[in-house]
Amino acid sequence: MKRVLPIQFSMKPRVLSGIQPTGSLHIGNYLGALKNWVRMQHDYECVFCIVDLHAITVYQDPAELRQKIQQTAAIFLAAGIDPKISSVVVQSTVAAHAELCWLLTCATPLGWLERMTQFKDKAAKQESIGDGLLQYPVLMAADILLYKANAVPVGDDQSQHLELTRDIAQSFNARYGDTFVMPETRLPSVGARIMGLDDPTKKMSKSETGSGHAISLLDPPSVIRKKVMRATTDSNPAVDLENMGPGVQNLLAIHQAFTGWSDGQMKAHFPGMRYGDLKKTVAEAVVAGLEPIQQRYNEIAADPTYLKQVLRDAADRVSPIANDTVRTVKQRMGIYTE
Ligand code: TYM
Repeated sequence: MKRVLPIQFSMKPRVLSGIQPTGSLHIGNYLGALKNWVRMQHDYECVFCIVDLHAITVYQDPAELRQKIQQTAAIFLAAGIDPKISSVVVQSTVAAHAELCWLLTCATPLGWLERMTQFKDKAAKQESIGDGLLQYPVLMAADILLYKANAVPVGDDQSQHLELTRDIAQSFNARYGDTFVMPETRLPSVGARIMGLDDPTKKMSKSETGSGHAISLLDPPSVIRKKVMRATTDSNPAVDLENMGPGVQNLLAIHQAFTGWSDGQMKAHFPGMRYGDLKKTVAEAVVAGLEPIQQRYNEIAADPTYLKQVLRDAADRVSPIANDTVRTVKQRMGIYTE
């Protein structure tokens, strides 16, 4: 089959980011990360990973994981990632991710990992904790540092992991000489933390199973409307921008992030609107935003050969860069590289 991607990387600054292929991707993943990726891909050389090695830090049903990896890749493309200019990579297909993770693990103090709030939260939910859960942020640092990424577009919940990545890079550079680039965290101006519709005090999350919690990117319009109409608000009857609970704030953020409206447009439109009408307006903005993505998703999912080729080409394209970093790191650490 004809190759989809050119093989050369350009001299543009680099972006790396990733999403775990678990559960159903939701509007938080889209507004916090994916939407920004689509925008940034024109100004940066981008690597977008389906981080299957991160996913297995908690048990995944193997057949389901295989299917979710393909689905996540198809969603990346459907959301607007262009495989001619960006590399969509399944993390495990580039062995250098795991290799650099081990090298960095040996240079990372245990105390730094035990302090991670996501580790503490996830560990509290498990009966027995795998070692991988503790190493999770080191693997994430490896993903980023492997490609010398300058910018990492993520949602707000990844900020602490990004700080740790910079700490790991800095301490490695101090000990072994300048090796890694310091990556910047890039949060979207609106939508960096989308909250659950059923409980706006909790971040919208793939692992929450409640049917009114998250809007999946593949939910049909009728389901989206039902979920938004049931969203938790507060005891006020209508929107008051000076006095609103987290549920209404969340609905407004979702609307603004989908429509791209300015603060001025929001202020002119919503004050005094009754909650029933607010919810209808928000639901229609979400339906309109997701419709083209769902259409493209159906086309891409119908052609698994194309998708496989995109993933294979991207792995071929990025592997030399990743292998080169690992070789340098090994040399710096004194590991055998002959
Ligand atoms: P993951 O799979 O949990 O989430 C993927 C992306 O979606 C963002 N996100 C949100 N943004 C706004 N509101 C929300 N409710 C919300 N929920 C999730 C996340 O911030 C993330 O940007 N550890 C990462 C995956 C990863 C990664 C990396 C990211 C692995 N290696 C290297 C960046 C760079 C994670 O679990 O994302």
